[in-house]
Amino acid sequence: MPFYEEVVLPRILSLTCSAKPFGELRKKLIPLATGKVLEVGMGAGANLAFYDAEKVDFVWELEPSEGMRKAAKKNIEQSPVEVKWLNLPGEKIPLEDCSVDTVVLTYTLCSIEDWGLALKQMHRVLKPEGKLLFCEHGTAPDSNVQKWQNRLTPGWKKIMGGCHLNRPIPAGLEEAGFVIDKIESLYMEKFPRFVGYTYYGQASIQR
Ligand SMILES: C[S@@+](CC[C@H](N)C(=O)[O-])C[C@H]1O[C@@H](n2cnc3c(N)ncnc32)[C@H](O)[C@@H]1O
Repeated sequence: MPFYEEVVLPRILSLTCSAKPFGELRKKLIPLATGKVLEVGMGAGANLAFYDAEKVDFVWELEPSEGMRKAAKKNIEQSPVEVKWLNLPGEKIPLEDCSVDTVVLTYTLCSIEDWGLALKQMHRVLKPEGKLLFCEHGTAPDSNVQKWQNRLTPGWKKIMGGCHLNRPIPAGLEEAGFVIDKIESLYMEKFPRFVGYTYYGQASIQR
């Protein structure tokens, strides 16, 4: 389905990801990024406007979809920080060990096929004193919502670029070796509960 995946889906994802409730969480999280930043699954570049140019050297923007990279054109043109493209999936981060100060991960873990491997790659490239900033939707705490997340995921991921509704985000981070330093979670306003349960915060690598 190249037309759907490369033209229609990038438009759907760009529109959804630029919604106001997402913007409010981006505003809290993204200004915490410092130094050399790696953003995994940049999508249409909705985070770019929130970087603090005084604190960030540049951002490696990793994004495997050509359609999403095209959708990011306008946000890149207006970006306050320099962008360096990495045209690869998160499972194959082409950077050296301990070379990144901040990894940024927003609404992407749901779509990465081998998310455990991708998280291990992020752990590998992060400096010992570096941080991972995350904002990801995943398994809800209510069993009734979880039931729908499990039921809907097989069909949902076929039309939404591989998006899983039911990933246990904190457990996945810890399994890859991250220590969660701060975490908050909430149902996003104006989104159905099965897709809107969001975890956001900061993690570091185990020393
Ligand atoms: C819902 S969008 C989120 C985009 C962006 N991070 C944001 O906050 O708006 C999910 C993104 O993950 C990307 N993606 C899918 N598989 C990936 C993979 N294996 N590695 C990295 N990114 C991937 C998709 O192309 C898409 O741009």
